[in-house]
Amino acid sequence: MDSRLEALESYARDNSIPVLLKDSAEFLEKLVASLKPKNILEIGTAIGYSGSIMLLASPEAKLTTIDKNTSSLAVAKQNFEKLGVYDRVKIIEGDATEVIKSLEGEFDFIFLDGPKAQYLAQLPYLEKLLLSGGSLLADNVLFKGWVKSGVYPKHKHRTTILRLREFLKEASLRLDCTLYEIGDGLLLAKKINKK
Ligand SMILES: C[S@@+](CC[C@H](N)C(=O)[O-])C[C@H]1O[C@@H](n2cnc3c(N)ncnc32)[C@H](O)[C@@H]1O
Repeated sequence: MDSRLEALESYARDNSIPVLLKDSAEFLEKLVASLKPKNILEIGTAIGYSGSIMLLASPEAKLTTIDKNTSSLAVAKQNFEKLGVYDRVKIIEGDATEVIKSLEGEFDFIFLDGPKAQYLAQLPYLEKLLLSGGSLLADNVLFKGWVKSGVYPKHKHRTTILRLREFLKEASLRLDCTLYEIGDGLLLAKKINKK
């Protein structure tokens, strides 16, 4: 991986900002490099690490990225500028679940990495925003192994885990899905081409 991206990852780690795990970051980089999407939507900008991975892997891509955290977004903007990709970025500050309800555009790649308990609620809106033939990649779908455990969780993450299980079920009914046990679990969901 580009040493400038590694520096972003170290900054996030040193400042306790959650970003993609290394294996998942490599998967994202390879996937985007092979798909070469033109119009990417990301939920969960943080400091711009995953967004920068995608922009460097697909040099013609534009990125619309949403986060509600003002201070992370300020760092993300600086990072996009430093990497020379800011002219390809549109940052939207707000609650992603609300923002996507009125967002316009057609995206050929969506990276979902915001609030895990909201994936299920966001799915129908994201499906509308995704072009036929486009792909959505969702991170943390196995949530530390709990989602696949079959056990009814009794702890504070119960709602998130139950909703992620429902998200995986719903997504598999509507999209062409492959689950990867990489990092914290990645779901790759392709919108089937309409004939
Ligand atoms: C895991 S981090 C994203 C990491 C980033 N994708 C990366 O790997 O570089 C999740 C982000 O989602 C944001 N977030 C949480 N709830 C949100 C919401 N309701 N709307 C928008 N962003 C939200 C947090 O502020 C945080 O920056």
